[in-house]
Amino acid sequence: MSATLATASYIGATILFILSLGGLSNPETSRRGNLYGMIGMTLAVLATVFGPQVTATGYAWIIGAMVVGGSVGLYAARVVKMTQMPELVALMHSLVGLAAVLVGFANYIDPAAAGMFKGAEKTIHEIEIYIGILIGAVTFSGSVIAFGKLSAKISGKPMLLPGRHWLNLIGLLLVIFFAWRFINTHTVADGMIPLIVMTVIALLFGIHMVMAIGGADMPVVVSMLNSYSGWAAAATGFMLNNDLLIVTGALVGSSGAILSYIMCRAMNRHFIAVIAGGFGTAEGSAPAAAGAQPAGEVNPILAAETAELLRESKNVIIVPGYGMAVAQAQHTVFEITKHLRDKGVNVRFGIHPVAGRMPGHMNVLLAEARVPYDIVFEMDELNDDFPTTDVAMVIGANDIVNPAAQDDPASPIAGMPVLEVWKAKTSIVMKRSMASGYAGVDNPLFYKENNRMLFGDAKKMLDEVLVSLKS
Ligand code: TAP
Repeated sequence: MSATLATASYIGATILFILSLGGLSNPETSRRGNLYGMIGMTLAVLATVFGPQVTATGYAWIIGAMVVGGSVGLYAARVVKMTQMPELVALMHSLVGLAAVLVGFANYIDPAAAGMFKGAEKTIHEIEIYIGILIGAVTFSGSVIAFGKLSAKISGKPMLLPGRHWLNLIGLLLVIFFAWRFINTHTVADGMIPLIVMTVIALLFGIHMVMAIGGADMPVVVSMLNSYSGWAAAATGFMLNNDLLIVTGALVGSSGAILSYIMCRAMNRHFIAVIAGGFGTAEGSAPAAAGAQPAGEVNPILAAETAELLRESKNVIIVPGYGMAVAQAQHTVFEITKHLRDKGVNVRFGIHPVAGRMPGHMNVLLAEARVPYDIVFEMDELNDDFPTTDVAMVIGANDIVNPAAQDDPASPIAGMPVLEVWKAKTSIVMKRSMASGYAGVDNPLFYKENNRMLFGDAKKMLDEVLVSLKS
């Protein structure tokens, strides 16, 4: 393939990626957006593999790598459950970071690349390598820890080292110092020492940053690592002189940054506090005990009684959470919604921005179950409507409906906006036990007078509700 054709293909792929991002911003166009992304990526891979930079001897390596990578990806995509998706995404981010680190080192020791740059160009190239490895290493270790936390292999509690902000500052100063040492060395062997020291510092910073995150604040970190992985890819693009990688990385980096900002706003957190780590707990205070002790009496309800309440309602708001994903209850939720709507009940869905375990988690599940988009609302769109709602049905959600976020300034989730389901005439919480949610805090909603608890697996209980509704 000629260089001109490769460049034209790269431009085509860039346009498709931008269209893809545009499509993904709305549930109704998201399938199309995904398709654009797939076509763009296929075009990008083909243009790169058959482009002028690959020589005939390289094909065996490329095909080998694609077979191994493709098989692992295919296997992972087939076996991973929807609820494990966020962990998989975190793991994928870590691979982007690792690739940036490896490409950086390979680029630095590559004699061909070394001979290409002189004077100011050489310094610029070395800065690209340094920054690429720095971002890559933070992304890699941070994402591995995020994977551990999301899959509960590492405790979700924040690890707050004494003087942690000072540690971060010292780390930053050391990174700047070794950058200066690195660009002032004359041989590859001399340059390796500052490069390796910086890599170790960056890896430790990534671990420290994510270990310090607690409470319900992991979503912000996941979207931030998403952004970092984009910048790591862009830095790799600079190192390899690959325009498409620069543009694609910048798209992922900036869209991830926008998502982080949206998440920060949704969680009522400051962006800088996220980057410095350790938010989600008040400075120095003890983190929330996982599964904090219940305080008070709850009012249980049966599936048949729930059906009765729903049948008598005019306005119902359903608030789904992580438990709906675990139970795979979305199809029954749709059946119930359809039945109630056919009977003239106004049923709407209230979606919290961090419900579930990944951005848009609930929207994906509801779309899969064919719930119409026009009855699915964001939190801010219907939070004022609970006082005029007869039944607020909470399906496997916990932290996102916790009034302590508003009432208890000492709570680890204090300040996080929540869906005010307790303001409805009756709220019904569907879950298996009194266990706490992701943030590990007790939920005063369960003990409110107008709240009922429907204990059991969400799918099983909703099946029973549906049977009662139809009988
Ligand atoms: P959670 O607060 O985690 O609560 C989910 C509840 O579902 C649990 O209390 C659990 O109680 C119940 N549950 C689990 N399996 C169930 C089943 N089979 N049937 C019925 N109930 C079941 O979820 P949420 O309210 O959706 O809030 C999300 C939390 O995750 C927030 O703290 C958020 O910050 C965090 N988080 C979100 C993301 C993103 S991006 N969305 C990423 C990482 C973390 P039982 O065990 O008693 O059943």
